[in-house]
Amino acid sequence: MMNRIAVTNQKGGVSKTTNVINVAGALSSRGLDVLAVDMDPQGYLTHRLGFEDVYKADPPTFADALKTPSDHDVEELVVEHAEFDLLPSNIDMFTLEQDLIASGMLPRMRLSNLLEGVDGWDVIIIDSPPSLGPLNDNVVLAAETLLVPVEADESSQLALNHLLRQLDTLEANYEVHIDIAGVIVSNVSFPLDNEQEASIEWFESRFEGHVPVWVVRSRAAIKRSIQAGGSIFGPDAEETDMREVYEEVAEEIANG
Ligand SMILES: Nc1ncnc2c1ncn2[C@@H]1O[C@H](COP(=O)(O)OP(=O)(O)OP(=O)(O)O)[C@@H](O)[C@H]1O
Ligand SMILES: [Mg+2]
Repeated sequence: MMNRIAVTNQKGGVSKTTNVINVAGALSSRGLDVLAVDMDPQGYLTHRLGFEDVYKADPPTFADALKTPSDHDVEELVVEHAEFDLLPSNIDMFTLEQDLIASGMLPRMRLSNLLEGVDGWDVIIIDSPPSLGPLNDNVVLAAETLLVPVEADESSQLALNHLLRQLDTLEANYEVHIDIAGVIVSNVSFPLDNEQEASIEWFESRFEGHVPVWVVRSRAAIKRSIQAGGSIFGPDAEETDMREVYEEVAEEIANG
């Protein structure tokens, strides 16, 4: 069981948050207790799941907990969603990167420190900001296992290569091994054009077959369930064939 997993790509708009919601929903529908963590200062995950009030709340928030992990208890910050729990983002996280760097003391290990010893959930799945920097490094070092959402285009190939270089740097500096659990080619419209086809083949060959590559098609049911505040596995969600894909991802996380 991979019990901490990050959904990360510094490229914007490649379906990170959408995948967090649906992978969390799929894991939860298998009967697992899931905690989703919103490490994006923009807090889209937090908003979509219905916690704008917590996003705007006064301290102490997730931002304070990341500044001084030993002074805070994750359980006290967590809110309950119908399908899984959420550690919500907060507006104060916009200034966190500067605060972390200014404070010295392993600024990239704060999330890892905060989640250390947290054992109330079977799986923790972390959403990340669309940037390479201290916040994303915190996400990667806390999870050490990654799901990488990409789009079926050349700029996503370039983005993946940048991400892999950053992972090499973190592995060298922190003496950790970072594992890619899978690549999710997301929001794909069929029929594929030549660029999309070549791009999916490129992702499949990039890790010489050692990393699963899933394709999630663009579906109105996915958009609508998120607008309604949950995943395609939620109690009121409409049926969609993309459930099978997310069930495969959940299977890989639970047994891979
Ligand atoms: N499979 C899909 N079917 C339909 N719409 C989708 C699908 N995947 C993503 N989308 C839509 O694409 C948009 C971007 O997705 P999302 O917010 O998940 O990306 P992101 O990588 O988290 O973005 P950011 O980098 O800003 O955090 C959203 O409007 C989302 O609803
Ligand atoms: Mg997002």
